[in-house]
Amino acid sequence: MTSTSDERPLLRVRGLTVGFPTAAGTVDVVKSLDFDLARGGALGIVGESGSGKSMTSLAIMGLLPKGAKRTGSIEFDGTELSELREREMQAVRGDRIAMVFQDPLSSLNPYYTVGTQISEAYLSHRTGVTRRQARKVAIEAMERVHIRNAPRRVDHYPHQFSGGMRQRVMIAMTLSMEPDLIIADEPTTALDVTVQAQILDLLAEIRRDTGAGLILITHDLAVVSEVADHLIVMREGDLVEQGAAERIFCDPQEDYTRMLLDAVPRIDDEIGLLRTAAVETGTAEEDR
Ligand SMILES: Nc1ncnc2c1ncn2[C@@H]1O[C@H](COP(=O)(O)OP(=O)(O)OP(=O)(O)O)[C@@H](O)[C@H]1O
Ligand SMILES: [Mg+2]
Repeated sequence: MTSTSDERPLLRVRGLTVGFPTAAGTVDVVKSLDFDLARGGALGIVGESGSGKSMTSLAIMGLLPKGAKRTGSIEFDGTELSELREREMQAVRGDRIAMVFQDPLSSLNPYYTVGTQISEAYLSHRTGVTRRQARKVAIEAMERVHIRNAPRRVDHYPHQFSGGMRQRVMIAMTLSMEPDLIIADEPTTALDVTVQAQILDLLAEIRRDTGAGLILITHDLAVVSEVADHLIVMREGDLVEQGAAERIFCDPQEDYTRMLLDAVPRIDDEIGLLRTAAVETGTAEEDR
């Protein structure tokens, strides 16, 4: 491999547009977006509800809803994703890009143990792996996301886990695939504030340890400030502002970004206080 391939960004998006046909013509909900994600980088996508954050991530995953029209270029590790056939895209999704959604319950099957689900996900993308090996991978992945008693918990069902623990199971499933890019779309919105902070710490830790790129999508600037090093700010499908996270926090150039930032200190304090309280009382996330 030449050195230039390593200097290329992991993800290079140019002119990404997503539109939906309506009686009055096509309405674009993502409008000619340009951004890069460096290798091992963490990109935050922020913006209010309906700004096009999820459509952007679904476009990258090749999972846009029926009827959506996508144009522009999405280059992932040197491969133009829009030129791939569905079968090739499926391989990219399983192996290289993984997604963590807002609501872990809707992504987990209530009738199977979490161990079976992590193992099945792993087996479906690996050949020549035995069930016993897959179970071992599942236990290791659960340990990596700090689920206590993983060898026992692996045989439990989703309803036997709390919301935060279920999100950890989803992240374990993602990890067992060893992806190069993890896209987390509002991964903490359904969780209470203490647990939110723990899941964010976990995502930051995983990114550090595995070197995977991370895209974190949220409407909450306090949330991205914990994890992202680069930010893009979206509004009504447009990219309003982008840059180093620190720069955007210290010196936002747009009124819209300032408005989003106005909500930050309060929420940030809350997370900070709750985290301190959890550490002091030893009530960091419950093991259930
Ligand atoms: N299947 C669809 N058909 C038509 N329009 C859609 C469809 N799905 C989403 N949209 C529109 O696309 C726009 C962007 O939606 P998107 O889900 O990307 O927003 P978001 O930034 O993720 O918001 P949230 O923070 O609420 O998740 C919205 O205006 C939404 O109404
Ligand atoms: Mg969304």
